[in-house]
Amino acid sequence: MTAQLIDGVALSRQLRGEVAGRAARLTAEGHRPGLAVILVGDDPASAVYVRNKVKACEECGLHSVLERYPATLSEAELLARVAALNDDDSIDGILVQMPLPRHIDAQKVIAAIDTAKDVDGFSVHSAGTLTTGLPGLRPCTPYGCMKLIESTGRSLKGLHAVVIGRSNTVGKPMALLLLQAHATVTVCHSATPDLALHTRQADVVVAAVGRRNTLTADMVKPGAIVIDVGMNRNDEGKLCGDVDFAAVREVAGWITPVPGGVGPMTITMLLFNTLEAAEARRAGA
Ligand code: GUN
Repeated sequence: MTAQLIDGVALSRQLRGEVAGRAARLTAEGHRPGLAVILVGDDPASAVYVRNKVKACEECGLHSVLERYPATLSEAELLARVAALNDDDSIDGILVQMPLPRHIDAQKVIAAIDTAKDVDGFSVHSAGTLTTGLPGLRPCTPYGCMKLIESTGRSLKGLHAVVIGRSNTVGKPMALLLLQAHATVTVCHSATPDLALHTRQADVVVAAVGRRNTLTADMVKPGAIVIDVGMNRNDEGKLCGDVDFAAVREVAGWITPVPGGVGPMTITMLLFNTLEAAEARRAGA
């Protein structure tokens, strides 16, 4: 049986429509949700990412500000910009694009962002709310993966989920979100001796490693939900994920393609977080 495709482009379109509607309502009440994006340095890939974030904001009726600085910007200057944006009432979300130049302590910068405006969900505070199950802003990529899984209509309660990768931005928060949805969760990583032993028992596999062909067809339980967070290039230079898509789709029940799966959802959840931050700030104001 061939797996059903989980279409991240279609789901993104639907969710962005919802964001646009809610943003229009807030705007009519006198507060247009706003996102500030800070880019330090001239990394071309980062420039493309931030441009896409700003463009997506505009398409959904959100206010957006892009601040670009040279790689020579000092840590103190960046912290001063973050402090100014914390105090700026027209800004509900602050995103400092990573990676930062080496002379800037990224953790210090993330910690300086007002927790109510931490739309990346990267702060220790946001990680704490996720760990304890308190309301808070969730990291965009794993949050998007949860929406993709939800779109299959299968309840996660009682399912066994395997996360491959333990990064602070994807693997760890992904495991916590799955746990919160009542899955039994295993986290595998580079020191896991027999990855296939775990994935073969999984009803849900989330691959977030950054290495192509990490998950092959023989490692997948028939009917499983497979979410591919990877963004790699194959020998022909074509974008591909961590999953051997052509073979795994013949075994899995549902699968996300690359491109067109998790990728579009990451920006969509950033918009969603900005909107939620705006709504929360208005409710608290
Ligand atoms: N660099 C690559 N992805 C991201 C992201 O989601 N947020 C930030 N701040 N930087 C990134």
